[in-house]
Amino acid sequence: MAAPASALLFSIISLAAVLFFIGGANADFNRDAEITWGDGRAKIVDGGRGLSLSLDRFSGAGFQSRKHYLFGRFDTQLKLVPGDSAGTVTTFFLTSEGEGHDEIDFEFLGNSSGEPYTVHTNVYAAGKGNKEQQFRLWFDPSAAFHTYSIVWNPQRIIFLVDNIPIRVHTHHEALGVPFPTRQPMRVQCSLWNADDWATQGGRVKTDWSKAPFVAHYRNFKIDGSEATNTNKNSNSLNAGAWRTQGLDANGRNRLRWVQQKYMIYNYCTDHPRFPQGIPTECKQSRF
Ligand SMILES: *[C@@H]1O[C@H](CO)[C@@H](O)[C@H](O)[C@H]1NC(C)=O
Repeated sequence: MAAPASALLFSIISLAAVLFFIGGANADFNRDAEITWGDGRAKIVDGGRGLSLSLDRFSGAGFQSRKHYLFGRFDTQLKLVPGDSAGTVTTFFLTSEGEGHDEIDFEFLGNSSGEPYTVHTNVYAAGKGNKEQQFRLWFDPSAAFHTYSIVWNPQRIIFLVDNIPIRVHTHHEALGVPFPTRQPMRVQCSLWNADDWATQGGRVKTDWSKAPFVAHYRNFKIDGSEATNTNKNSNSLNAGAWRTQGLDANGRNRLRWVQQKYMIYNYCTDHPRFPQGIPTECKQSRF
């Protein structure tokens, strides 16, 4: 009896070690990220597993992935500024460089104590955005770490929160709607002051007596096709599930749940904003 039990224990321990190794290998800010601004306000902690950004009246801070990618899955865990975060914006987005840029955005707009954060999403292709959708969360994003992910493949972009799809932006190639397919992007994250517009339309200002404001990132993971300067082709050694990821029936149910209960703004239903008619992609199915 003792032998099988210890064998089982041994396999559990080795499995745990393997999982730990995979997790550890995938998340290292020292290896995968570089601090871009903030003069000491961005700090890598925990031997590379975590990174904190702080904002005071003089500056915010930011970091980016060292590499550029053409498609991939990008994850980070985030614990947002707690308490009075009005006027602050914490970001996690992908962007290309130069004119006619592509961009895929997750932005977290702070609020007064006790009032909910707004999760702002947008997609730019060839320099054009205007595809905002905004959400509430079903938890307090400043109380604990939660996982935010962007899946970007040639067919679609999926925004996920704790692995629940909150938005799918489909590539409607036949309709000629621009979609990011050609420009490599890198991950950018930042914490900055935007009290001219972020909170309740700019009416609530940052309370600097509460500074410094701090947001924590951890488990930064990229599984993507790396684009090098000499060769913009995708790296075919990589065969992540994100390459063809879409939504199954369960994913569609969860997306519907989020969109019905937590979506607070959708450009597709903002008729006064588009007097010539809503954008073409809005007339298609959401998936
Ligand atoms: C802040 O809270 C107010 C009141 O609940 C809400 O109307 C607003 O959308 C929230 N978010 C932002 C970013 O202003």
